[in-house]
Amino acid sequence: MTDDLVERAREALEAAYVPYSEYRVGAALRTADGSVYVGCNIENANYSNSLHAEEVAIAEAVKDGQERFERIAVASGARDGVTPCGMCRQTLAEFADADFEVVCDEGGDEATTYTLSELLPNTISLETLSAAEAKRATDDDPES
Ligand code: THU
Ligand code: ZN
Repeated sequence: MTDDLVERAREALEAAYVPYSEYRVGAALRTADGSVYVGCNIENANYSNSLHAEEVAIAEAVKDGQERFERIAVASGARDGVTPCGMCRQTLAEFADADFEVVCDEGGDEATTYTLSELLPNTISLETLSAAEAKRATDDDPES
């Protein structure tokens, strides 16, 4: 049986706007409370303004007040096991733990599931910046 989240990602890619690459991508993101938000890629004539399916799903979730993510499924029209790009991995990491699951559709009932930490072993986070701030405070303190 196909994973429900993969099904939602497959449905979402139907709305992709891809006149340039003709490569449709859909994403379905499940948040900690069990809600699902979907997105598709939306390209632009200047190329660099193109939105990735994952970004669109993330924006939908966050504007709805969701800040803890559990799982994402990503599908392309080619059913080629597409994985989120580096930029999207980092954006997901803002709202996800290391064990967040990334399910990549390979067609039929086939999918590969990765953890976010497998796809992005080192990430900059709020903790990174807080630790740097604490270190600056210590370094600047003449008593230390
Ligand atoms: N794309 C996504 O939507 N998500 C990814 O993680 C990989 C790439 C889109 C961007 C562009 O519209 C098309 O796929 C080809 O790169
Ligand atoms: Zn991306």
